[in-house]
Amino acid sequence: MDDKKPSTSTNSPPPSTQPAASQPPNPAPLAKSPLISRRRFLQGALAASAVLAAASVGASGQILGPLIPPRLPSQTLIGTDTTTLESGYDGAVAAGTLYTDLLSGKVPSWTHFFYWPFDSTVSPYYKNVVCRLPDPVQLTSMSNAFTAPDGTKFVAYNVTCVHLRCLVNPGYAGPAEAGEFRLQCPCHGSQYRISDGVPVAGPAFDLGLLPLPQITLGVDSTGKQLVAIAINGEPGVGRTQ
Ligand code: FES
Repeated sequence: MDDKKPSTSTNSPPPSTQPAASQPPNPAPLAKSPLISRRRFLQGALAASAVLAAASVGASGQILGPLIPPRLPSQTLIGTDTTTLESGYDGAVAAGTLYTDLLSGKVPSWTHFFYWPFDSTVSPYYKNVVCRLPDPVQLTSMSNAFTAPDGTKFVAYNVTCVHLRCLVNPGYAGPAEAGEFRLQCPCHGSQYRISDGVPVAGPAFDLGLLPLPQITLGVDSTGKQLVAIAINGEPGVGRTQ
């Protein structure tokens, strides 16, 4: 027998079930460190904000806009001036087309369409029209015409029909022989008086619906460029005063 070979005999002492005297007892579980907890919280918050940021990017890769779009400011230029509409009006009178332009469905040169108080990307329902008020038109108690420094009168309405929200666009209609001007809806034939936007024919009249919302007009510091100041009423609903 080789004495140098390590012994593998069963003479080895059995493993003790008692802890060695020099070994410390198992330590009690540590209380959770508030520092670690805070770090995990911050990591979670960062991950959540990254997910939210990713979710705000549409399929096109563009950042989605806010849910409530910004309104255009009061005193927004509407893209025309009193001189242009006045010369358009004078030209139509001189050519004898003041009524026939309307009846042919052409956009009269004394009118101008514009979007306000939201731009056209928000909704078609913020489309409006400004008209140089024809001389034969008599103002009513509901008329809120703007008088330019040169004495010319202008009116502006939202063109969303209060019946079922078609756009009163772009023609006008009315018995020319009566000297009456109206805004006409192409869908079911509602007609609105140009002097005050009150429905005078078609389902909007038959159902006793409200007048078209009206835009309060003004001019900028030049005294020429027309600006939109306020809207009285809700597009597609009408105005109450
Ligand atoms: S939507 Fe204008 S008359 Fe019906």
